[in-house]
Amino acid sequence: MALVDHTGKVIDLLAANQDFLHRKFGGIVPEIASRNHTLTVLPLIEDLLARVKIHLSEIDGIAVTARPGLIGSLMVGVITAKTLALSLNIPFIAINHLEGHLLSPFLHDDKTPATSLTFPYLGMLVSGGHTSLYRVDGVGLYQRLGATLDDAAGEAFDKFAKLLGLEYPGGIKVDQLAKQGNRDEYSFPHSYLGPGSLDFSFSGLKTAALRTVQSIAPDQLEQKRPDLCASYQETICQVLIRKLGWACEQTGLRQAVITGGVSANSRLREVAEVWAKNAGIQLVIPPLRFCTDNGAMIALAGLERLNRGESSSQSLAPAPRSLAEDQL
Ligand code: KG4
Ligand code: ZN
Repeated sequence: MALVDHTGKVIDLLAANQDFLHRKFGGIVPEIASRNHTLTVLPLIEDLLARVKIHLSEIDGIAVTARPGLIGSLMVGVITAKTLALSLNIPFIAINHLEGHLLSPFLHDDKTPATSLTFPYLGMLVSGGHTSLYRVDGVGLYQRLGATLDDAAGEAFDKFAKLLGLEYPGGIKVDQLAKQGNRDEYSFPHSYLGPGSLDFSFSGLKTAALRTVQSIAPDQLEQKRPDLCASYQETICQVLIRKLGWACEQTGLRQAVITGGVSANSRLREVAEVWAKNAGIQLVIPPLRFCTDNGAMIALAGLERLNRGESSSQSLAPAPRSLAEDQL
C-alpha cells in the first residue's frame, strides 16, 4: 500500500507480509493469501493514511494490480479499489503488475533521488513468477524480447532452496549461504537456448541440481550447502547477465534496468555492475523496497496513466494473465 504525489515521489509505502503463514506449506497457498488480504487490506490503508496525516478525500485516484497474478488476491484488491473510488468519486486505474515493475526505476523518495533514466531502455524483470526482457519505449509502450520457457529465476531459486531444506521464500537464504561458498565447486549447465536467444530456461538446471543433491550423502548435505548455493546462484546470474548483454547488443540500447525480487540477489548485482561498467551501459537497479513487490510501483503506474487521461471502468475484471493489449 503506497501513496505517491503528482511527481512520483513516494510519500509512504507499507506492506503486510504474510510469508509466515505460507512457510509451513513450502510455498504460497492461494486461498490463504486471498483470505489474509481481506483481513489486512483496510487496516493497511488506515495505517498508511494515519502515518502521512492525509485524509482519503485528498486522494486523486486509486490504482490497483488487476493482472497477472493469483485471482483470489487480485479480486480482493480490485474490489477494494473500485469501492473506494466509487465512494470518493475519483478514478480507479487497473494496472498490470509487470508494468509496475518496469516503471519502478522512476520511483523516488526522501532517501532515493529521482533517476536520470530516460526512455527507451532495456528492462529485465526477474521475479518469482517472471523472467523476461523488454524494450521500454514509454509508458504503455513495451515490447517483449524474450521470456522464460519454463521456470522463472525466482522460482528456480526457491525450488533449489526447498531441495536443500531451506524455508520459503528461499531465494534470499540461497544468497546468504552462497556468501560462504565456492562458486566453482559444482558445475551446473548454463542454458542459453542457442546463440543470441533472449529466452530463458531453468528446467535443465533444476534437474541437474536435483541429481547433484541426490548424489550427496544426507549427513554431508548441510556442510555442502554453501558451495551448492554459490555454484547454483552463479549459473543463474551468468545466464541472466549474458542475455541482458545480448539484448543491449541486439537493440542498441545503452540503458538497462533490472527489477523484480531476484534483483535483490547480491551476486546478481555484482555481476551486473561489472558487466555494465565494461560494456559502457547505464545500469539502474532500483532500491530493494521498490524492486520487490510493492504498492508504490503500482501507484506510480496509476499516476502515469491518470496523467494521460486514462482510467478503468467499474466493470473491469481482474485476470490471472496479462492481456494482449498490455504488451506485457
Ligand atoms: O518480485 P517479487 O517480490 O514477487 C513476484 O512478483 O514474484 O519476487 C519474489 C522472488 C522470490 O522468488 C524470491 O525468492 C526472490 O524473488 N528473491 C531472491 C532474493 N530475494 C528475493 N532471489 C535470489 N536472491 C535474493 N536475495
Ligand atoms: Zn512482482
